[in-house]
Amino acid sequence: MAMLFMAPKVRSDSWVKHLRAQDCGLDLRVWPETGPADEIEFILCWKHPLGELKKYPNLKCIASLGFGVDHILRDPDLPPGVSIARLVDEFMVHAMSEYILTAVLCHTRQFDRFQQDQFQKKWQTRRPLRPQNVRVGIMGLGHLGADAARLLRLLGFQVSGWSRTPKHVEGITAWAGPDAMEEFLAQANVLVCLLPLTRATQGILNSRTFTRLPEGAYLINAARGEHLVEADLLAALDSGHLSGACLDVFREEPLPESHPFWSHPRITVTPHSASLTDPRTVAPQIVENYRRVRSGLAPRHVIDIEKGY
Ligand code: NAP
Ligand code: GLV
Repeated sequence: MAMLFMAPKVRSDSWVKHLRAQDCGLDLRVWPETGPADEIEFILCWKHPLGELKKYPNLKCIASLGFGVDHILRDPDLPPGVSIARLVDEFMVHAMSEYILTAVLCHTRQFDRFQQDQFQKKWQTRRPLRPQNVRVGIMGLGHLGADAARLLRLLGFQVSGWSRTPKHVEGITAWAGPDAMEEFLAQANVLVCLLPLTRATQGILNSRTFTRLPEGAYLINAARGEHLVEADLLAALDSGHLSGACLDVFREEPLPESHPFWSHPRITVTPHSASLTDPRTVAPQIVENYRRVRSGLAPRHVIDIEKGY
């Protein structure tokens, strides 16, 4: 029985090396060199060709190469009864928290404005916003959101969070559910999106959401491009209601050359790099999950297909 690596846009060499380092006898195949389809029990995947996963009659687990599983769930032909597992990795959690902190600090210390001043050789002092006076609201208090919240709190920011079910994170004001969203938004000077992409969260960063934020609020989206209604962001920036945005994820990736986000003076673009999967750190949990599946145990970090995360 075998593991199949199915991630056509990801270089497989490093993955093969680090997975085999965990188990030198591992029967690992790289799509499309699958061998007999009935030998595949475990598929490791990222942005696979839709319809491909249903071709393996003995498949027991589909494992994401990332934290998100939206790329798997968008396949209309998912094989029924196969568990879907995600990654949970402390290095990726720290990397995301660093990214969010960097984006928040670049905003509060006005680095985006200093950069524009520099292009114009303009010497202009700008007073930073004090963390104590900045309320950061985090949508999603899961593995990523809760850690970013703690770090921002340590630096003195006022932090709040919003999740589907009630959460308790020390020192953080937490709201839950759609009815609490308005109250949560009304106090957030910086809105951070760390939600999974699901039917309920698709397009959640839209004009209605933006209108509820205080004047001059700043947006950080490091979750998925489909959370954001791009035209609504441009309108909110042009009207001055939002002061700027830092975006790591986009509806179309790579972001097309002609896209207005590239040259917008109030938007910082990063190329889906907030928290990159490192085969070195996650290979052990993947191989452990493969062993669990082979011995009849449920894999760790299984997602709820109905909830979508
Ligand atoms: P997670 O642990 O599953 O946490 C998700 C959080 O979102 C939970 O607090 C959940 O609420 C909340 N949530 C889900 N649906 C909601 C809804 N309808 N309304 C309100 N709250 C809702 O996820 P994670 O590990 O933190 O990852 C979040 C996402 O980040 C991933 O799915 C992925 O898309 C993205 N990501 C991006 C990068 C990057 O490099 N840009 C890297 C890694 C991950 P409950 O707590 O009540 O369940
Ligand atoms: C990256 O986007 C991930 O989901 O891990």
